[in-house]
Amino acid sequence: LDAHVKFHGDDVVAPVNRRLFGSFAEHMGRCVYTGIYEPGHPEADENGFRRDVLALVREMGVSMVRYPGGNFVSGYRWEDGVGPVEERPRRLDLAWRSTETNAFGLNEFMAWARVAEVEPMMAVNLGTRGIAEALDLLEYANHPAGTELSDRRVAHGVAEPHGIRLWCLGNEMDGPWQLGHKTAEEYGRLAAETARAMRQLDPDLELVACGSSGRGMATFGAWEATVLEHTYELVDFISAHAYYQRVGDDDASFLASSVDMARFIDDVTSTADHVGARLNSSKKITISFDEWNVWYQRELEIPPGWPEAPALSEDDYTVVDAVVVGSLLITLLGHADRVTAACQAQLVNTISPIRAEAGGPAWRQATFHPFAETARHARGRVLRPRTTVPTMATERYGQVPVVDCVATHDADAGTVAVFAVNRSPDQPVTVHVDIAELSPAGAVDAVVLHDDDLTAANSADHPDRVRPQPLAADLEEGVLHLTLPPASWARALVG
Ligand code: AHR
Repeated sequence: LDAHVKFHGDDVVAPVNRRLFGSFAEHMGRCVYTGIYEPGHPEADENGFRRDVLALVREMGVSMVRYPGGNFVSGYRWEDGVGPVEERPRRLDLAWRSTETNAFGLNEFMAWARVAEVEPMMAVNLGTRGIAEALDLLEYANHPAGTELSDRRVAHGVAEPHGIRLWCLGNEMDGPWQLGHKTAEEYGRLAAETARAMRQLDPDLELVACGSSGRGMATFGAWEATVLEHTYELVDFISAHAYYQRVGDDDASFLASSVDMARFIDDVTSTADHVGARLNSSKKITISFDEWNVWYQRELEIPPGWPEAPALSEDDYTVVDAVVVGSLLITLLGHADRVTAACQAQLVNTISPIRAEAGGPAWRQATFHPFAETARHARGRVLRPRTTVPTMATERYGQVPVVDCVATHDADAGTVAVFAVNRSPDQPVTVHVDIAELSPAGAVDAVVLHDDDLTAANSADHPDRVRPQPLAADLEEGVLHLTLPPASWARALVG
């Protein structure tokens, strides 16, 4: 098969937004405990933060981390996680049927975020709690000093305010599984009043209203419309969440998962713009795609007995999962005009690109690589492709283009990065990428993620079984020729 793609310098989607390379650390399973935080581990620093994990987070290029949940936040009392550790209460976490020790809380997370060099994205509990507790948390976290709450933070050893700008107004409030689940009307009103109150304390915050927890929700579309009717002028983002998995042996549909993500983004964008038009507003709401990944949810089994930090959703990701992750990143970049924040869910151990054994080593899962490659090489402006690409049949999404791709152009550095996926499970495709107009000069460096064994995965014993391999790439008269094997993802850098 052959595919033809052309990039023009003036077909700009948007500047590359570093916030697209966000991740998520929820108090779920072993993401926090024995993931990012494990006092006593040989690699732990004086705060108990695992240095081996921190090094991988930096290498991956994570720019932002959402915290503390997720479903967890809808039952969370933030006060439990601050102050002297020996006085912090143990609590039942109803979301994950676990016991929360509260040894790690807001101040630990902020200290970790500083060392990891990531921007925090904080969530408030709008499930079992409301406006007052959100305001208390905001004042504790961000007010300099001189009030009971801010002085409490100072007394807890944090003299400087955290200055957290980005806040999620609850989590997945459309989901019946959510503690304190609400109708769109109920949530829309609460989100609006919480946003208004938080802005009274600090008008410059950036706020995310909960959108749908999946495109398949019965309330999808109507939920966004109602919530935004209440919150339109008070928030900046509406969230979207999507998880994909291979079902049966249907590789073709799985490899085409990003088609669904693109439709999701388009649907939410049209809904938001429709509400904006009805409200006669010139403002544009953008999407915070603050949970996305490949996730084998059917394997989520919570052991009985309310354990502390049980191993949950520790999926061993295959090379095909990594190809899908790469394709989802292509879609996020390709919609960078309307998706302005995104978090791969999650960061360590739970649904994660990084695995860390308690007391043992940490390693890169297959899904680490497309994220790290994209975060490292996507620079400058995102360019929209003009494509002539064959299509393939899929059971879930009908006919879809075999190849999807996006490019970024860093005019200052004179470099072009091309990211491409071959969704065909059985056919190689030669992709001819015309970048002549961008006149990049210099060498081509290309890598591919592919394995003849589609089940290949990394493990503690074989941490590099799946990793990017060099890909032959020719640049002739401004046209880059890349032959992508079946079910593969590639990155080419020119200049
Ligand atoms: O990321 C795992 C869970 O998936 C989150 O807690 C929840 O928001 C979503 O359903």
